[in-house]
Amino acid sequence: MINNKGIEKICCLGAGYVGGPTCSIIALKCPEIKVTVVDLSKERIAQWNSNKLPIYEPGLDDVVKQCRGKNLFFSNDVEAAILEADLIFISVNTPTKTLGNGKGRAADLKYVEGAARMIADIAQNDKIVVEKSTVPVRAAESIAKILGANRKPGVSYQILSNPEFLAEGTAVNDLLNADRVLIGGDETPEGQLAIEKLCSIYEHWIPRKKILTTNTWSSELSKLAANAMLAQRISSINSLSAVCEATGADVSEVARAVGFDSRIGSKFLQASIGGSCFQKDILNLVYICECLNLPEVASYWQQVIDMNEYQKSRFTAKIVQSLFNTVSGKRICILGFAFKKNTGDTRESPAIHIAKTLLDEGASLKIYDPKVDHDRIYEDLTHPMICEEPERVKKQVSIHQDAYSAAEGTHALVLCTEWDEFITLDYNKIYVNMMKPAYIFDGRKILDHQSLIDIGFHVQTIGRKLQRPISNRCWSSNPTMS
Ligand code: NAI
Repeated sequence: MINNKGIEKICCLGAGYVGGPTCSIIALKCPEIKVTVVDLSKERIAQWNSNKLPIYEPGLDDVVKQCRGKNLFFSNDVEAAILEADLIFISVNTPTKTLGNGKGRAADLKYVEGAARMIADIAQNDKIVVEKSTVPVRAAESIAKILGANRKPGVSYQILSNPEFLAEGTAVNDLLNADRVLIGGDETPEGQLAIEKLCSIYEHWIPRKKILTTNTWSSELSKLAANAMLAQRISSINSLSAVCEATGADVSEVARAVGFDSRIGSKFLQASIGGSCFQKDILNLVYICECLNLPEVASYWQQVIDMNEYQKSRFTAKIVQSLFNTVSGKRICILGFAFKKNTGDTRESPAIHIAKTLLDEGASLKIYDPKVDHDRIYEDLTHPMICEEPERVKKQVSIHQDAYSAAEGTHALVLCTEWDEFITLDYNKIYVNMMKPAYIFDGRKILDHQSLIDIGFHVQTIGRKLQRPISNRCWSSNPTMS
C-alpha cells in the first residue's frame, strides 16, 4: 500500500527532451525533493553532466546549473535511483514501430515495457509509477500487468498517467506556465492517494485549478486527442494555402481573418511546410481506431496526416518545377534542418523529406542549421528508411558553419526552419555569390519577400503567389517601348 508520507525522492527513466526539462523544473520548484534522471545511454548522461547539454532549449542551461548537484542528479545508476525513489516517471521514447504488426503506424512500446520490467526487477518497496511518455490508450494496463507479474513479494504499485504537453523550443516556459497538468489514475482510494501525491508536486508552482484529474484512460486519450486537434488545425490551414496559391488569396490574410473569430482563435494557424512530432501520435491514434474497429474514425484522422505529407511534397515539387523541371547537377542550399526553431531536434523534420527528394532528383545540397549537429544531419539522410545508397548521399551533401558559406555558388536557397537569424541575413551579399537566376523558396513564410524580389531573387513561398515586377523581364508588351 502506498503510504501517506509526501514524495521525497523522484526517479525519472529517460533523460530526453521530456525527462530532462520536466525533472529540471521539478527540482527547481521543489528544492526539498531529490530528483534523479537516469538513462541507459552513457553519452546522454555525460552530456547532462557537462557544460553542453544534449538538447538545446532556451532557458534550460540556467535551471540545470542552479539545481545540478544539489537536488538534481543525472546518472546511469538506474538501480540506485529506482531503489530509493517514492515516485518513478517513465519518460522513455515511444517511436513509431518499424517492424511487425502495425509497422509504420503503431507506437513501439518496447522501451516502456523495458522500463516497467526494470522497475519490477529492482524495486523492493511500494512505488508510484507515472507514465509520462505518450502512449496508446490502455498502455497503463500493460505496465500494470508487467509490474504485477514480476513484482517482489509485498511490493505494490500505483500507476498514473501524466502526459506531457510541453513543446520543444518553449519547454521551460511551457513547464513553468502550463495551461494545465493532467493526471489520470485508478478510482480506488489507493489510486486517489497516488494522484494527490503527484498533485502536491505540481502544486509547488501550478495553481490547483489548472491540475485536472481524470481516470487513467481519459488522461491517456486526452494527450493523443490534443495533438490530433492541433495537427488538424495545421493541416486545415495548409490545405487552404494550396487554394491561396491557385487563386491569388494570401494565406496569412486568411489565417488572420479566420483567427479573429473568437470561436476559432489565432493560434496554430500558420501555414508552412509542415512536419512535427505530432505525426507519430496521430499515426498511433489512427492505428488504435483501426484496432477498435472504427474505420471511419481512422480514415478521418488519416487525412490529417496525408495533408501534412501533401504539403511537403507540394513544396518540393514547386522547387523542382521552378528550377526548369530539373535539379540534377544543381547546388541547392538548405537553411535550417531542425523541425522548428529553438530546438536541435530533427525527428520528423520536413527538411529531411525535402532534402531526400532533392537528392533523389540528383541535386547537391549545402546545409546549414545553427543547432543541429553535423553527424545528426548525415545520420538522418543516410537512415535506411530514407536512402539506399549512403555513400552517394555523403558525396552530394556538405554541411556548413554559417548561412553565407552554405549559400555560396548555389542555384537556390530553400528555407526549411524558421530560425530568427535567417530573417536578418544580408541577402544582398548572398545574392551576389549565388548562381543566376537566383531562387529563394521560403517554406516558413518568415522573409521579407518584396525586398528579396527587389534584390533580384525569384521568390516562392507557401500560400501566396509572388510576382516579379514587369521591369525585371527582358521583353515588353508595351508597343510604345518597342
Ligand atoms: P527521447 O528520445 O529524447 O528520450 C528518451 C530517452 O529514454 C532516451 O535517452 C533513451 O535512451 C531513454 N531510455 C529508453 N529506455 C530506457 C530505460 N529502460 N531506462 C532509462 N532510459 C531509457 O524522447 P522524448 O522526446 O523525451 O520523448 C519521451 C516521450 O515523451 C515520448 O513518448 C514522446 O512521445 C513524449 N513527448 C515528447 C515531447 C517532445 O516534444 N519531445 C512532448 C510531449 C511528449
